[in-house]
Amino acid sequence: MMADSRLLGPPYRVFDFYVPITNFPLSKPSSSDPWEDFSNVFRREHQPLPQGWADVFGPLRKGTVDDCLIVGQLGLSLDGRVATESGHSKYINGPAGLVHLHRLRSLVDVVVVGVGTAIADDPQLTVRRVSGPQPARVVIDPKGRLCADARMFADNGVRRLLITEERTRCTAPAGVEVITLPKIDGQFAPSAILAALAGCGMRRMLIEGGADTISRFLVAGCLDRLHVMVAPIILGNGGPGIVLPSLDRADQAPRMPVRVHKIDDDVLFDCDLSAQRVALGIAKKST
Ligand SMILES: NC(=O)c1ccc[n+]([C@@H]2O[C@H](COP(=O)([O-])OP(=O)(O)OC[C@H]3O[C@@H](n4cnc5c(N)ncnc54)[C@H](OP(=O)(O)O)[C@@H]3O)[C@@H](O)[C@H]2O)c1
Repeated sequence: MMADSRLLGPPYRVFDFYVPITNFPLSKPSSSDPWEDFSNVFRREHQPLPQGWADVFGPLRKGTVDDCLIVGQLGLSLDGRVATESGHSKYINGPAGLVHLHRLRSLVDVVVVGVGTAIADDPQLTVRRVSGPQPARVVIDPKGRLCADARMFADNGVRRLLITEERTRCTAPAGVEVITLPKIDGQFAPSAILAALAGCGMRRMLIEGGADTISRFLVAGCLDRLHVMVAPIILGNGGPGIVLPSLDRADQAPRMPVRVHKIDDDVLFDCDLSAQRVALGIAKKST
């Protein structure tokens, strides 16, 4: 028997397919990797983005609340984990998902991680899988736990910053700028972290993990967007994804506008959190 489409309602929405970089439309190629041209166009706010790409990266061009745009990212397994029980997370996402992360890095002024990630993964936080500008790198390390030889502190010509508490003894190498903040209710207010970075000239910021750090920014209303890249793997027990205060009922959970993109085998949920984003007290430029 044929199903009656009137009873079934409209069909499922087809994913917006992430356009492969090889299809990137360019009138005059000026570099070998077209991503470099894209990252230049992206920064010229009044120049339209090429079709197909505006949907993915357009929301990251400008904040709607103030002059800052804050995007968080997490790579998640199907069972909602960001790492195995031993803390291993390289790599949950497939190669295309990792390229997306490097594209994000190349579009922001600064990449921020918590010290848990800096110690567990020793990430470089550089742009390597595409051509594009290198962002500044920041670690939130209140107790000064990160060693001086951490790869994110390596000098490659960009600013490196350490956010810590007053009177903490840090072993950051020469050239790393140290910002001290007071703790309020046992932590640095995420808005104070962002305001301090904005004071250093940063406007577009990527909070790259881990889950603890992202959760703190989320609870504090300090993200405009959250990119959750879900990979078709099941990790079993391990590091949880976002951890927030519990709710009694599922229907109390905030539901947000989302754009969904399929990136090879991974699925990107680009969540719009601008409705709950707090203002940072940074003046918004008139356009
Ligand atoms: N799948 C992914 O996308 C992804 C991404 C990144 C990391 N990871 C994995 O996640 C694990 C590490 O993440 P994690 O959640 O345990 O740690 P994390 O978020 O990297 O770091 C958390 C720590 O950073 C400090 N911190 C962050 N925000 C702070 C604030 N507002 N105020 C004060 N201190 C703050 C605290 O340090 P103190 O404890 O010193 O106070 C906190 O315990 C690793 O296994 C890594 O492999 C996965």
